[in-house]
Amino acid sequence: MCGIVGYIGHRPAYPILIKGLHRLEYRGYDSAGVALMTPEGKLNIYKTRGKVEDLERFCESKDVTGTLGIAHTRWATHGEPNDINAHPHYSASGKIALVHNGTIENYNVLKEALEMHGCTFKSETDTEVLVQLIEYIKESTGCTLVDAVREALKEVVGAYAIAVIDTENPDTVIGARKSSPLVIGVGDGETFLASDATPIVEFTDKVVYLNDDEIAIIRRGEPLQIITTDNVPGEVDIKTLKMSVEQLEKGGYPHFMLKEIFEQPRTIHDCIRGRIGNTGSEVTLSGVIEHKDKFMNARRMIIVACGTSWHAGLIGKRLIQEIARIPVEVEYASEFRYSNPILDERDIVIAISQSGETADTLAAIQMARKCGAFVYGVCNVVGSSIARATDSGTYIHVGPEIGVASTKAFTGQVTVLTMFALALGTLRGTIDRETAAKVTGALRNLPALIKQTLKLNDTIEKLSSTYTYVHNFLYLGRGYNYPSALEGALKLKEISYIHAEGYPAAEMKHGPIALIDREMPTVVIAPNDGMHEKIVSNIQQVKARGGSVIAVVTKGDTTIAEIADHILEIPEVPDIISPIIVSIPLQLLAYHVAIKKGCNVDMPRNLAKSVTVE
Ligand code: F6R
Repeated sequence: MCGIVGYIGHRPAYPILIKGLHRLEYRGYDSAGVALMTPEGKLNIYKTRGKVEDLERFCESKDVTGTLGIAHTRWATHGEPNDINAHPHYSASGKIALVHNGTIENYNVLKEALEMHGCTFKSETDTEVLVQLIEYIKESTGCTLVDAVREALKEVVGAYAIAVIDTENPDTVIGARKSSPLVIGVGDGETFLASDATPIVEFTDKVVYLNDDEIAIIRRGEPLQIITTDNVPGEVDIKTLKMSVEQLEKGGYPHFMLKEIFEQPRTIHDCIRGRIGNTGSEVTLSGVIEHKDKFMNARRMIIVACGTSWHAGLIGKRLIQEIARIPVEVEYASEFRYSNPILDERDIVIAISQSGETADTLAAIQMARKCGAFVYGVCNVVGSSIARATDSGTYIHVGPEIGVASTKAFTGQVTVLTMFALALGTLRGTIDRETAAKVTGALRNLPALIKQTLKLNDTIEKLSSTYTYVHNFLYLGRGYNYPSALEGALKLKEISYIHAEGYPAAEMKHGPIALIDREMPTVVIAPNDGMHEKIVSNIQQVKARGGSVIAVVTKGDTTIAEIADHILEIPEVPDIISPIIVSIPLQLLAYHVAIKKGCNVDMPRNLAKSVTVE
């Protein structure tokens, strides 16, 4: 949540900061702002409610000179989205400006203490407290800016990634992090700072991922310096980015979401590359091989995740239980972390997260590790906090996902979980070579099968007009595709604002059937699997009550074609990989309905891609 960018170097800072904010807008988009140090050492701060484009309009006639600055795009936590609560926030004297991603939990206590010393506050935010505290410490003790930041951070309880500038130190930017991400880009005579690497990659591929409790001191013309909040020197560990600018552009598509849906043949190819050979049944996951004994002897596994990643986890549970015969539980990370779970070193916790920054998932990992459990991560963003907090793991390698609704990450997660289950099954001897070869063969075919399924796009686009003004949708699925129903419903509700519920198909008669009428369409996921006959009866139950049915079926299914109002035909695939194929029409349906309704699919209201607050 919230994106921060900073720049110090030889180029005009404003265009770099604005472009960086556009790249980070997926993290929040209810207000935006920028603080620039002019060549004369004056601080100009511009901020406004709205998106980054609103900030650009606001700045059109303003002085945006300067080669040093910080900027922010917000997802409101404390205080409504308005001009005053927008970042950057500044100190009482107006000399220090600060941008912040995270939440300062003890801000009320700090605010009261500062008020007793005569501070007054302009905004309702937790962030303003921090910038006022830094100035108070600096003024009252006469210490340096770095020490003031350091001391202030020691007072703070909560999560933060911050960037600070000060007119009394006009050639310095200070960055710091705790539980919220911060990446420093090291260029030639210039340094960048951002919530992730996307604003940086265009300028340099050399980055440093700041660790918790570290402070980056970036001075013009000097090498990057890192210290901890306890004033111990930190290591400047420069890594090379494997990301390209093209991956961050829409590439001719009208929206990132559509681009990411259509990218899936390639992203799945990248996900399995090097892990499954061209022939045979072998799966090579280094995260498993390196900890063979742990995985051989695991008593049970607990999957923790949120949202779409949690849905992938539900599919993972079935896969692991079926193939590797280990008991698996799936927990919402937000519930698990407060549930006082019974865990020890015989348990393996699997944390699934696209962003690798989700606060609840990160907290669940920290708790699991404290209990002695081994933690395996399934992440997309390389070098993210979750990827670094786990004992081992497997990246899904689907490239940056920018559309707020997760699409290619979901299919990547399910693909990795399938490979993971296969690797475990082989290790534990619970799957025979022939069955393993069938599954690996199906995985190898996935890119081609997805490509074929994407041909449904035109049909779904036409179909979506029928359902644009509907208020409620029901999604039904069974077995491996019960989680697909949950995910289909989530996709629709988050981008089209149509209420949608996912249910195991057989549960419909225990309640939701009461909702069925002409106004309530049902999407039924009904591929040709062991549950086919049963799901046909579910469709008939809906039809008997006047409901309309959109059915996702295996090509050539004449039985359902006769009773459903619309069918979306997918290729014949083994049960085990059907959730990946089924998700394609469900993603496209959500996309087209939302577009027909005129919704902003890449930036749905109230949402942010990276949920770094509780
Ligand atoms: C929905 C969606 C969210 C995320 C959830 C977890 O389309 O994207 O539900 O799946 O916020 O995010 P990660 O996977 O980054 O931990």
